[in-house]
Amino acid sequence: MSPARLLPFPPALQAPGTAEASFTATVPLSELPAGSMRRFTRGDLDVLLVHSEAGIAAVDDRCPHMSAPFSVGQLEGCVLHCPLHRGAFDLRDGEVVTFPTTGGLTADGEYRATWTPAGTEAKPPPSGSKADARALTRVRRLRYYPLRIHDGAIEIALPA
Ligand code: FES
Repeated sequence: MSPARLLPFPPALQAPGTAEASFTATVPLSELPAGSMRRFTRGDLDVLLVHSEAGIAAVDDRCPHMSAPFSVGQLEGCVLHCPLHRGAFDLRDGEVVTFPTTGGLTADGEYRATWTPAGTEAKPPPSGSKADARALTRVRRLRYYPLRIHDGAIEIALPA
């Protein structure tokens, strides 16, 4: 069996508190075959272990839009598809591939309008504070946890 490939990630997107953290065993490597995802929870932290086309990564199991769990979404190659609002994110760089239908702010603060997926009926836009909340909701980039393979298990650095 060829060694597992770990997906490198942009250093700026490393999860806070993980630089000095010790590694914690999660699941055996054999339980994360190519193309699969697993949720790992410790305390109130939910981490997504994902075996993408470009390698294995650990990111928050929370969409950077409104925190929906990616683990019940879809993995397509290197792209995570959120189960809500059609948001999609590239694991290779943490960037948004498809902005959520609800619109809002990019990680860099640019406004993106709401949109309607093809084949679906446009909903009436919200008003008042709900509209304001949507417009100001910032969709950040993915956040990564360092990982390694040790004794056949996937270990990730978790903040204390
Ligand atoms: S919570 Fe993921 S796209 Fe909205």
